[in-house]
Amino acid sequence: MSKPKSNNTKTISVALTLCLVCSVLVSAAAVGLKPAQVENARLDRNKNILVAAGMFDPASDTNEDVAERFKDFDVEIVDLNAGNYLDDDALSAVGIADRNTYDASQATKNQALSEDLGDNDPASIGRKPKYAKVYVKNDDAGKPEMVVLPIQGYGLWGTIYGFLTLEGDMNTIKGISFYEHKETPGLGARIEEPKWRAMWTGIHSYDESGDVATGVSTSGSKENWVDGISGATLTSRGVSNMIQFWLGEQGYKPYLDHVREESGRTIDNSDVQAKQVSYKKLGQSSHQNLAQNSAQQQAHPVTELASIAPAANGKEA
Ligand SMILES: Cc1cc2nc3c(=O)[nH]c(=O)nc-3n(C[C@H](O)[C@H](O)[C@H](O)COP(=O)(O)O)c2cc1C
Repeated sequence: MSKPKSNNTKTISVALTLCLVCSVLVSAAAVGLKPAQVENARLDRNKNILVAAGMFDPASDTNEDVAERFKDFDVEIVDLNAGNYLDDDALSAVGIADRNTYDASQATKNQALSEDLGDNDPASIGRKPKYAKVYVKNDDAGKPEMVVLPIQGYGLWGTIYGFLTLEGDMNTIKGISFYEHKETPGLGARIEEPKWRAMWTGIHSYDESGDVATGVSTSGSKENWVDGISGATLTSRGVSNMIQFWLGEQGYKPYLDHVREESGRTIDNSDVQAKQVSYKKLGQSSHQNLAQNSAQQQAHPVTELASIAPAANGKEA
C-alpha cells in the first residue's frame, strides 16, 4: 500500500494549481480587455479635445456625437522648433509611422524625438517632444477656425495633461480642459470645474508685441490673467507655468506665429469685451467693473452673456 502524501504536499500543490489558474485568468483578462481600454482612453481624449473646443455638452452628448464631431478636425504634426507641419514623407523621415497613433508624451522617452530642457524647464516636464500633435478645425474657406493644442506640466502631485484651444487668430483662448492629473479632489482637482475653466474663454494669449500675456494669478486679480484657485496655490502655479511654457518660444509660439501669418492675421487685442463678459458671468466681483459700461451687456441678462462673448470676436459659441 502506498504511503499517503503528507498534508503539506497536498496543500502546496493545491495552492500552486490555484495560483496558476488565477494568473492565467488575470493575464487573459488583461490581454482581452486591453483593446477596450485603449479605445476608452482614445474616446476620453477626443471628448476632452471637444470640451476644450467648446463642442461637447456633457448633459446630452453621446460617444457617437464625440466620434462624429471629432471628424471636423484635421490631425497635424507640428515641428515645434520650426513651427511648420510635417507631411507624410517628412513624418516617415523622422520615424513617425502614423500621425493618428503618434503620442507626443511617449515621444519624450525617445532621444531622437525629444529634447532635454535642462534648466530651462518652467513646466517641469524634463524633455519636450520635437513634434507635437495638434487638432485643426478649418472654416468653409479653408482658413483655421480654431486649433486645439495638447499641454502638460507638473502640478503639486504629478503631471497635469490637458488641451488649450485658440481661435483662428491664434491668440484668443476659446477653451481649456484637463483630462489627467493627480491633484487632490476639492483642491487642485478644481482645475477641472467648468466654472474655473470658463474663466479662460476670451483671454488673449499674447500682447501686441507677441509676448505671452496670460497665466494664473496667485496674488489677486490681474487683467487678462485667470484667478488662482484658493487652497490650491501650487496647482494654480503649475497650470500657469504650463500655459506660459506651451504658449512660449519653446512651445507652440513659432507654430502659432506661422499660422497667423499664413492666414493674413495679426494680434489685435483691441476687443477686450470677451474676457470682461466671461468674468462677469462668473460673478468675479473684482472684474465686474470692467463689464459695466458695455451697452451690449446691458441689453442682455447675465445668464446670456456666454453667448455674447464669442460674437464679440466674430466667432460662434
Ligand atoms: C492632503 C492635502 C492635499 C493637498 N492638495 C493640494 C493640491 O492638490 N493642490 C494644491 O495646490 N495644494 C494642495 N494642498 C495644499 C498645499 O499643501 C498648500 O497648502 C496650498 O497649495 C497653499 O495654497 P493656498 O495658499 O491657496 O492656501 C494640499 C494639502 C494637503 C494637506
